[in-house]
Amino acid sequence: MDVRIPWWLYKLQIFSGHRPPRNWLLLCVVSVFVLVALLSSSSSGPFNTQTTSVTREVYTNYRRLKEHTASDYIELKSFSSGNNDLKGFRFCGKEREDYVPCYNVSANVLAGYKDGEEFDRHCEVLQDQPYCLVRPPRDYKTPLSWPVGRDVIWNANVKISKDQFLSSGSMTKRLMLLEENQISFHSDDELIFDGVKDHSRQVAEMIGLGSDAEFWQAGVRTVLDIGCGFGSFGAHLLSLKLMAVCMAAYELTGSQVQLSLERGLPAIIGNFISRKLPFPSLSYDMIHCAQCGVSWDQKDGMFLIEVNRILKPGGYFVLHGTSISTEKGRLIEELKHKICWTLIGRQEETFVWQKTIDPQCYLSSTQGVIPVCREEQEDTHSYYQPLASCVAVTASERWVPVQNKSSDSHITPAELEIHGKYRVQQDEFYEDFESSKSALRNYWSLLTPLIFSDHPKRPGDEDPLPPYNMIRNVMDMNARFGGLNSAFLEAGKSAWVMNVVPFKARNTIPLILDQGFIGVLHDWCEPFPTYPRTYDMLHANGLLSHLISEGCSITNLLLEMDRILRPEGWVVLSDKLGPIEDARVITTQIRWEARVIDLENDSDQRLLVCQKPFVRK
Ligand SMILES: *[C@@H]1O[C@H](CO)[C@@H](O)[C@H](O)[C@H]1NC(C)=O
Ligand SMILES: *[C@@H]1O[C@H](CO)[C@@H](O)[C@H](O)[C@H]1NC(C)=O
Ligand SMILES: *[C@@H]1O[C@H](CO)[C@@H](O)[C@H](O)[C@H]1NC(C)=O
Repeated sequence: MDVRIPWWLYKLQIFSGHRPPRNWLLLCVVSVFVLVALLSSSSSGPFNTQTTSVTREVYTNYRRLKEHTASDYIELKSFSSGNNDLKGFRFCGKEREDYVPCYNVSANVLAGYKDGEEFDRHCEVLQDQPYCLVRPPRDYKTPLSWPVGRDVIWNANVKISKDQFLSSGSMTKRLMLLEENQISFHSDDELIFDGVKDHSRQVAEMIGLGSDAEFWQAGVRTVLDIGCGFGSFGAHLLSLKLMAVCMAAYELTGSQVQLSLERGLPAIIGNFISRKLPFPSLSYDMIHCAQCGVSWDQKDGMFLIEVNRILKPGGYFVLHGTSISTEKGRLIEELKHKICWTLIGRQEETFVWQKTIDPQCYLSSTQGVIPVCREEQEDTHSYYQPLASCVAVTASERWVPVQNKSSDSHITPAELEIHGKYRVQQDEFYEDFESSKSALRNYWSLLTPLIFSDHPKRPGDEDPLPPYNMIRNVMDMNARFGGLNSAFLEAGKSAWVMNVVPFKARNTIPLILDQGFIGVLHDWCEPFPTYPRTYDMLHANGLLSHLISEGCSITNLLLEMDRILRPEGWVVLSDKLGPIEDARVITTQIRWEARVIDLENDSDQRLLVCQKPFVRK
């Protein structure tokens, strides 16, 4: 086994000239100890002139950290002096390099799923298997930093066959070239004719705008791009300050979701087969499908009813592709009428419909063809429930046309007022934001010296530049009101956040989406619908206690986090002392470098900051 030593240890020259020895972990801990000792001794020197409380807090943390690593060292020493192995989990085989649980077609067929449902997400057929750690492919390389990494990725990091390059024909896929060991996406190439930019401009014109730069002002800020190709349309929308998330079915090779995330673009696995999507109703301003492979005319229009559910009033459904035959077109048209959409534009292969802004429309025009859902079928929690064949008529206060959005980039008190009806109070919301801001500053200063330990701070220096480019894909696993996302934006970090609201926690997901963020409901007792190595940082505040109270396995949770975290990615867990100590024991088995950090104010709240090592075999 060959373990890559974090480069900041190289900088300390601890391993200079040697191959990493077998008891590397022991040495790592010793060197962390040395590093920490260096840092904390220097904190009693001239650096004390720094007067911000954040800085003080961090150095206090380092002193405590030193004590912790000292005790870890003693623990490990007693381990290795005996014949005891480090009791780490073993590594999974090569077949699991790109493993996404819950999408095992042969297991689903065995369990009796058919008619396409074998391709759906079925976590209930997941068999218990011995714990193992998913390893990266042999030639895996750390992704290039944003924004270069948006346009160039390492070939070896994603599973894609050469045929897939050649056969990919759709607009959003064909902008891809294979270089020697890299795949490049020329998203900014002005010379590309008929590319995503033209498409975007065309859609903007069809909804009556002068150019696509006006989307934001027109209230189109969140876009669900179904079957996104390799994310180029989303990348373009992101450059216009829109939030576009790619959603595509699980794919064994050439996965659109895996490629998008590898490029640092938001994406999640999801499909139209038999279940609702894990989004609440009235979530998106625009839903986009360019040859996305969904048969919209199937299943009595249930897929369109689902699109209608998650589309905001006055929002747009854009369909692009050659495969829209006349007959299908008529069926779709008929349904549109029943679900109160208006075809507002049709140019060549692109169709744009707009959802009504009048909720009464559903009561007058359905005429019994598509029934209106009964009250209890409406989705307060649409977590992979069966698709509905009825239209939900929302008497929701959230029924606000996209065109009525304020031009403010923050949620306004008036908009927040709506959520008061869902038990979200203003002061609670703003408190969450304030505490997230200070939490983010703390995390950043905790991570920074670890990454930039060869930049000794001089009196009067700012903190060394934070690792802007090393953290792009962030997941907030227990996002509450989306405070961490707001804090990232406010701090001007070039990261995006996947906000996850645990299925049984308070349902704050509508508030997250109404701020223009990305959010999903998720039951953390189950695996998350994404590929391995797709997030740079995972954050969870209070999730451990929540899951312990739900009776979920913390070991399974941490293994799942390890799966979706890229090598050298970071984990920040904030919780009560008990759950943090439990988790720390498991992190040793998962081979993360982990540190428990006390907060200064003597509460029983702790931070567990971890880094996943880069392991090859
Ligand atoms: C998928 O399910 C089959 C049948 O249960 C099993 O043999 C196989 O190991 C599973 N594959 C993975 C990657 O778990
Ligand atoms: C949206 O704006 C229009 C025109 O300004 C106004 O008449 C309508 O009441 C607004 N609707 C809502 C739900 O705020
Ligand atoms: C201590 O700090 C934590 C995190 O910043 C905060 O949640 C908690 O309320 C503080 N406790 C006290 C007693 O101030």
